[in-house]
Amino acid sequence: MAERLDKLIADSGTASRSQAKSLVRQGRVTVNGAPAASCEMKLEPDADVICVDGRRLNCSKYRYFMLHKPCGVLSATEDREQKTVLDLLPENLRRLGLFPVGRLDKDTSGLLILTNNGQYAHNIISPARHVPKRYLAGLDARPGAGTAEAFARGIVLADGLECLPAQLEVLEGRSAAVTVYEGKYHQVRRMFAAAGLRVLTLHRLSAGALELDPQLEPGQFREMSQEEAQFVFK
Ligand code: URA
Repeated sequence: MAERLDKLIADSGTASRSQAKSLVRQGRVTVNGAPAASCEMKLEPDADVICVDGRRLNCSKYRYFMLHKPCGVLSATEDREQKTVLDLLPENLRRLGLFPVGRLDKDTSGLLILTNNGQYAHNIISPARHVPKRYLAGLDARPGAGTAEAFARGIVLADGLECLPAQLEVLEGRSAAVTVYEGKYHQVRRMFAAAGLRVLTLHRLSAGALELDPQLEPGQFREMSQEEAQFVFK
């Protein structure tokens, strides 16, 4: 459906509607290669190529972002008192209706996907999908002999809840990599607790074949293409 240029720019998360008007006035917007004449132009986002400062506008309905979640922020869209992952995004992107896919604890860092596609998020979180999530854990002691086997058999949590088999790889010193196929509340911390270990640091490395981009510093994010976002299911 044809829409006004300033609305398309605002809906893409590039700028506010009033900023979009000044971008057009400043000649920073092109439509099919030519400077945009007016922000009132009606354009077809699927057919017309709109660029701001030479970068093509993303007019897709669904958007996908990879965030390197830092410790100390909540995996939520808003909170009265505490900083959330949405607070790490600029104002314009916050208007896209993004939300985190699942939760990482406040003190967990690493890969967190933000999207506005509810079905995509549901498919990742769905227990039936068994999307593998890999974490790096810093522990209070080195896991003993038999811990990896206990994880592989399926840990029974303190409250009797049975976990699916998980893979534990003991690394140097007191660290370990663990892959789980479900997302129970505080799962990794509670699995280690059931094995007599305390998790001191926890960092998510990947979900399916989607790995946290090593270029992203804690708190940084980047947009993913639809194709890259599907790597979680590989
Ligand atoms: N397991 C946990 O215990 N915490 C997380 O944040 C993620 C997995």
